[in-house]
Amino acid sequence: STTRHYHFDIRYQNVTRLCHKKSIVTVNGQFPGPRVVAREGDRLVIKVVNNVQNNITIHWHGIRQLQSGWADGPAYITQCPIQTGQSYVYNYTIIGQRGTLFWHAHISWLRSTLYGPLIILPKKNAQYPFAKPHKEVPIIFGEWFNADTEAIIAQALQTGGGPNVSEAYTINGLPGPLYNCSKKDTFKLKVKPGKTYLLRLINAALNDELFFSIANHTLKVVEADAIYVKPFETNTILIAPGQTTNVLLKTKSHYPNAAFFMTARPYATGLGTFDNTTVAGILEYEIPSNTHHSVASLKKLPLLKPTLPALNDTSFATKFTNKLRSLDSAQFPANVPQKVNKHFFFTIGLGTNPCQQNQTCQGPNGTMFAASVNNVSFTTPTTALLQSHFTGQSNGVYAPYFPSSPLHPFNYTGNPPNNTMVSNGTKVVVLPFNTSVELVLQDTSILGAESHPLHLHGFNFFVVGQGFGNFDQSKDPSKFNLVDPVERNTVGVPSGGWVAIRFLADNPGVWFMHCHLEVHTSWGLKMAWIVLDGKLPNQKLFPPPADLPKC
Ligand code: C2O
Repeated sequence: STTRHYHFDIRYQNVTRLCHKKSIVTVNGQFPGPRVVAREGDRLVIKVVNNVQNNITIHWHGIRQLQSGWADGPAYITQCPIQTGQSYVYNYTIIGQRGTLFWHAHISWLRSTLYGPLIILPKKNAQYPFAKPHKEVPIIFGEWFNADTEAIIAQALQTGGGPNVSEAYTINGLPGPLYNCSKKDTFKLKVKPGKTYLLRLINAALNDELFFSIANHTLKVVEADAIYVKPFETNTILIAPGQTTNVLLKTKSHYPNAAFFMTARPYATGLGTFDNTTVAGILEYEIPSNTHHSVASLKKLPLLKPTLPALNDTSFATKFTNKLRSLDSAQFPANVPQKVNKHFFFTIGLGTNPCQQNQTCQGPNGTMFAASVNNVSFTTPTTALLQSHFTGQSNGVYAPYFPSSPLHPFNYTGNPPNNTMVSNGTKVVVLPFNTSVELVLQDTSILGAESHPLHLHGFNFFVVGQGFGNFDQSKDPSKFNLVDPVERNTVGVPSGGWVAIRFLADNPGVWFMHCHLEVHTSWGLKMAWIVLDGKLPNQKLFPPPADLPKC
């Protein structure tokens, strides 16, 4: 293993999309940001220097951060932000992980432009559980807003309403030819016939789950959230913000005399407005050299389009997610916790906060939109939770208790309760080291059923069950899959339904959990777990690095 150094200079860059030029926050002037590549077992040392006016933190989404919780990155959870003119070195070793992940800013809505692939190759001489692909291609989905996203979310939080939606989706930063004034900004994947390509799909969009498909080609899913799965073939992928999926694309055996669109558009279940547009890239076969085909004829090739599921096709979404199973091979076993020490039942969904005095609010019935976990809407503290926990000074920063089930249970799928108000607070769950946790996440349907991609920091978890309607403790657990459930870091809680996950709390520190739809995070659909130290030295939280930013 080696140590790999990266330098992230956070600076402004003018970028034009859809004929709209704006100054965005970037890493090294690149949009999307640079690829970070390492091997399993390597140490990454990434110096982040903040040369913009905003406060910055960077998160390494899906990295477990074993013994390096100070490098995780969510603002005010594991660190205070890096202020203008300051720097911080993220220093961590990649232990027991390989696959496709990504990095992104973890403060306010800055991840709309600050994101990039994080690719962990297997150890030298280690192999994939499938034949070596001819080529590997990261495909990172994003969202383009003509307006400044920091202004959009600031205004939404001030007025209590829903924020403006994006103008376009992007593939590797490019919206593609289906948008006005965007033809030249099209991602092109040039391929040879008869080869296998590994596509590393990453959804870095702020607020939208996406369907993705390539016309006249099937995709073989081999990995989800950097964990190998039992391979299966599909025409369409569903990928939520925070999720990553590796697929094998086998090209046609002969030059096909056509080019093919790859397109993505949202899977949308909520009631609010959303960006209902389609991003397209082009899969283009290289012209064989010994041929009569000319460049002119290539220009006239038919361009075939894929058919994507309907915008609200929950039946497709369910079928797709049910196909995801851990590979569970001798080399990559699924270590599903068979016993549970602690059960939690968390309701997640939207709600409201009262309008402030002398204000008109644009939320439901003149209130302000909020979102909550067990009716607690998380208030972001002004100093980092991990620092308060480490120094034992939690007083006035967080409350070390969290309701393990909702205070007022009701029918989660039927009529919403009359009172949609949330409570507000900075509450955390404290877990002894090595607690085996089972957590049921139930969509409340308050203000409408909606799918929520829930992301947990510091762990991967097993998705042992899912269903629609109200979770039934007396019936549903008997149907749990404790053999080969998919293991991941972000799971879509079905619209009007529930999922059950299990994880072993073997990583001391403070770990954020939140909806990866940024608008819901902003409204408070987030909370944190504190995992206490174990007895052995390597089960303890290490002291912070000297350059850890101060609040
Ligand atoms: Cu991808 Cu808490 O984030």
